[in-house]
Amino acid sequence: MENNVLKIGIIGLGVVGTGVVKALSKFDNIKILKAAVRNKNKKREIDVQYITDDPFEIANDPEIDVVVEVAGGVDPCLDVLKTAIKNKKHIVTANKELLAKFGDEIFSLANENNVTVLYEAAVAGGIPIIGPIKTTLRGNEFNKVMGILNGTTNYILTKMEEDGVSYLECLKDAQKLGYAEADPTNDVEGFDTMFKIAILSNIVFHKKIDYKKIYREGITKITQDDIKCAKELGYKIKLIGLAQKLENDELDIRVHPVLVEENSMLAKISNAINTVQLEGAPVGSVMFTGPGAGEGPTASSVVGDILAIAAEISYTDTILPSTRVKTDVQAKQADILNTKNSYFLAINAQNARGTIGTIGSVCAENNINLQSILQKGIKEDNTALIVVITETSYEKDIQNAVKKLNEQNIKVTNLIRVI
Ligand code: HSE
Repeated sequence: MENNVLKIGIIGLGVVGTGVVKALSKFDNIKILKAAVRNKNKKREIDVQYITDDPFEIANDPEIDVVVEVAGGVDPCLDVLKTAIKNKKHIVTANKELLAKFGDEIFSLANENNVTVLYEAAVAGGIPIIGPIKTTLRGNEFNKVMGILNGTTNYILTKMEEDGVSYLECLKDAQKLGYAEADPTNDVEGFDTMFKIAILSNIVFHKKIDYKKIYREGITKITQDDIKCAKELGYKIKLIGLAQKLENDELDIRVHPVLVEENSMLAKISNAINTVQLEGAPVGSVMFTGPGAGEGPTASSVVGDILAIAAEISYTDTILPSTRVKTDVQAKQADILNTKNSYFLAINAQNARGTIGTIGSVCAENNINLQSILQKGIKEDNTALIVVITETSYEKDIQNAVKKLNEQNIKVTNLIRVI
């Protein structure tokens, strides 16, 4: 770093990159030397002195101290960041997919090259969560981390509940508002939440996480009937990422919709807001809440990371050692079939005598005790919507019961876990 000015190169000038450039204009000690984009000729509302379409120009530029990656995706970011690290550049990235899939490789390479990789913006946008887990909360042994980690899906679920309209209508609304992308798969099928809970689990439990073993379900199957029945029973539906330590020391990590009690803290997190809850000793339970996406919140976290490096780079060769990730041990990840939950089952059955009795017996044969049952009259097609909430049961038992019920033409149209 020359003259106390940190020189950075930015990869990606989309919504977040633009926000970062705007926010950095207030800091005289940071200079953006180069930006790499896909289309050099696109008109932009910000002014960067040199724009290239070759991100390796940034990774290989000897003048650049820090590479800021806000482009997203694995290709070419993985190779670009590895090249930058080998060239002894510090990294600030918002790329959850890259870190969930290749974090081990990136962090090891960074440690070998004595550079720092900061990624506060990769999880829950503007909420400070990576930094606190690695620093202020470091003295804790955690047994659980759970959160609403995706703003788009939380917005859709909130709208479905408030406006009483279908998933697809709410998705279109989210797309109009710029929350959901044209291809919304990453958000609505839970991939984005899966990457984020993988990253959180890694630093909370100090283990390597195999994202491919994380159980994942999105929100595309949630219907108005589910939302209304949940409400009648005193619940709301949220998409969560959850990671918890089981008694056998395995990690139970998963992403799926859940019913949460309407008076709980999670139920109060509406629209595009995110939240992260941690349980550990000695701290107890802590909850962080705030804006999880968008230009301003994400730029806030990226800029915070850049300034943290700027504050140290003149004084030491080993920047922010407490933030460096060193995990040698691979986590043993639990199979969802071996986990225990309470379940909400939405059932569609012919209007026939003994149906509720059959549901009760099939559940009993599979070690499942029922907590609540609700039948919503009889529909015009002579079927009934029946909703059941079970006591805590094994997932493998509930899956067996669902199979048995379906075989008897008592169709389980949705299964949602209850927390
Ligand atoms: N698309 C994400 C969300 C933000 O809706 O929360 C980036 O991960």
